[in-house]
Amino acid sequence: MRRTMPLRRFGAALLLLALGAAALGATAPRPAKNGIASAHPLATRAGLDILAQGGNAFDAAVAVSAVLAVVEPASSGVGGGGFFLLHVAADGRDVMVDGRETAPQAATRDLYIGTDGKPRAAASTDGPLAAGIPGEPAAWGWVAAHYGRLPLAVSLKPAIRIARDGFPLYARLQNAIRVKRTRLAASADAAAVFLDHGEVPAVGATIRQPDLARTLELIARDGPDGFYQGAFAARLVSAVRRDGGLWSNEDLARYRVVERAPVRFRYRDATFVTASPPSSGGIVLGDALAILAGYDLAHEDATTRRHLAIEALRRAYRDRAEYLGDPDFVTIPTEQLLSPLYAAGQRTSIRLDRATPSEVLRPVFNSDESTSTTHFSILDRDGNRVAATVSINLFFGATYIVPGTGFLLNDTMDDFAVAAGAPNAFGLLGADANAVGPGKRPLSSMTPTFVESGRGLLIIGSPGGSTIISNVLGGALAWLDGRSAAEIVAAPRLHHQYLPDAVVFEPGALDATERAALEHLGHKLREGRGSWGNTQVVTWDLTSGKVEAASDPRGFGAGLVY
Ligand code: DON
Repeated sequence: MRRTMPLRRFGAALLLLALGAAALGATAPRPAKNGIASAHPLATRAGLDILAQGGNAFDAAVAVSAVLAVVEPASSGVGGGGFFLLHVAADGRDVMVDGRETAPQAATRDLYIGTDGKPRAAASTDGPLAAGIPGEPAAWGWVAAHYGRLPLAVSLKPAIRIARDGFPLYARLQNAIRVKRTRLAASADAAAVFLDHGEVPAVGATIRQPDLARTLELIARDGPDGFYQGAFAARLVSAVRRDGGLWSNEDLARYRVVERAPVRFRYRDATFVTASPPSSGGIVLGDALAILAGYDLAHEDATTRRHLAIEALRRAYRDRAEYLGDPDFVTIPTEQLLSPLYAAGQRTSIRLDRATPSEVLRPVFNSDESTSTTHFSILDRDGNRVAATVSINLFFGATYIVPGTGFLLNDTMDDFAVAAGAPNAFGLLGADANAVGPGKRPLSSMTPTFVESGRGLLIIGSPGGSTIISNVLGGALAWLDGRSAAEIVAAPRLHHQYLPDAVVFEPGALDATERAALEHLGHKLREGRGSWGNTQVVTWDLTSGKVEAASDPRGFGAGLVY
């Protein structure tokens, strides 16, 4: 178990620190209100109800993610995994609970390569061969037992009720069903829940998931052991193996969450506490911000600011492709990637008057659709915080439900670099560091993040595959520029990920003059009509004491302060 004992950096806390006071948690400022932002109003509401019943932010996190598993079944769930970034106010500790899926022990490096040497179409995205061993039930049990005040039987109650009684279909989920209709129709259990006689149900139709309610009840009663061991686990394994997957009873019984030290770095006067590997999010964010720290962004014009952000992202995503993978299997040069000296080296190839073609950067390779995922942000009145991003990867994951269990398996194995030079579903490339291997966790971009500065606190994260990191970077810079929670979630988005070598922009993000200015610098621009994330933000302004919670207007969520 890796743990850190960081120090709070708020003004009052600093003063006490100077005086050598030990119990910062007891005297650090407390927010006057609770704030929760999540991708669905029922989940935000469930979190506030759990706080009202005497739970803390960590109990609320279990309740919110469990409700999201029910009302956003295309995005996350019992069959997936994710990262819960926690701040414990009582002792000022930050920790990342890594509930990422693991590759089954039978997974080999060439698992998804055909006899012709090429990646097998859809092998890493559809059906149980695409599924890693789920981490979400274990993460709930861990967070509740080590950080919460309430038993799972209480915090899972709202999710169980909504799964059993149903919720009204909303347009965003209806669209996800439409995109995956054919695949859902192929599974009797999925079709029974998500389709109406084989057709996409109307908005407002009640989606009931009685099997999922029973699976959640089992976890509420027996804890994660009810899921990972015994008869239930045996049932999962036999269905997965029958339908082409590789899971074993041992894979499930051996699944463990890992507590990891978050990535921490400074950018100007702010401290970032963010996701560590096996997510690439925190390191790529820190790598890009270390490059940007060498410029006086506040005094540059808008085109130069965009240009520099794009060039920083290009270099940081290149490093992602080369170096990042599961830290339990590969050595990651984190200190180097976050160091000011390395950033100074990266800046030497950046020209203010010209885009750098990605192909002139040192190549990475070894010698040889969609919106899913979900994020929520929580701050409670004691100052406890949660930023959690959880996923089953693509829309409806592997589009496979083990009969009778009511939940979709993930297709997170696609986050591995399945072959050198073969992009994954997000166009991301990777190297040996992220090759498939038994027990290994695929590299993620999920970036739950806390930013603390003289202004106060930002809790942020988003879905969006490879665009998550640029989204969090943009949100953090906007917050450091003085923007409100509502402005941050609504802000138009830009993205660059090294390869493909293009600046992808959200429709409406750039007007014709702004586009021409970037093209003049040599950037290739592409309008991206796909997912631009679903950012969930809670902020706490130390001067005014104001807590704000805002949910991305692109989505259907709710930010509530209470
Ligand atoms: O861990 C990752 O980076 C991906 N599995 C996240 C997938 C995602 O955000 C899909 N949403 N658009």
